[in-house]
Amino acid sequence: MPKLVVVNRAGEETTVEAGEGLSVMEVIRDNGFDELLALCGGCCSCATCHIHVDPAFADKLPEMTEDEDDLLDSSDHRNETSRLSCQVPFTAELDGMKVTIAEED
Ligand code: FES
Repeated sequence: MPKLVVVNRAGEETTVEAGEGLSVMEVIRDNGFDELLALCGGCCSCATCHIHVDPAFADKLPEMTEDEDDLLDSSDHRNETSRLSCQVPFTAELDGMKVTIAEED
């Protein structure tokens, strides 16, 4: 199974495995990282699933939609590595990707 490396807000790294068909948000949430609130459940309307993605994987990620872009603008912690994790399907191509849970807004 593909692996995802999750860095929590304390800077601790954990490697988790994920099955098919989940978003990065679901992988993080299902592995017990309660810092990632994901309040809207993946509907792209809350921005509490904000992560920073390892730039090495930037060109493997799906294009950002206008909705995601607008929502990320509401975060004080947005930078060029920001994504909403519910909008990124976790595929085998992303095996080994490192993501950092963004600071709370
Ligand atoms: S879970 Fe709400 S925008 Fe991603």
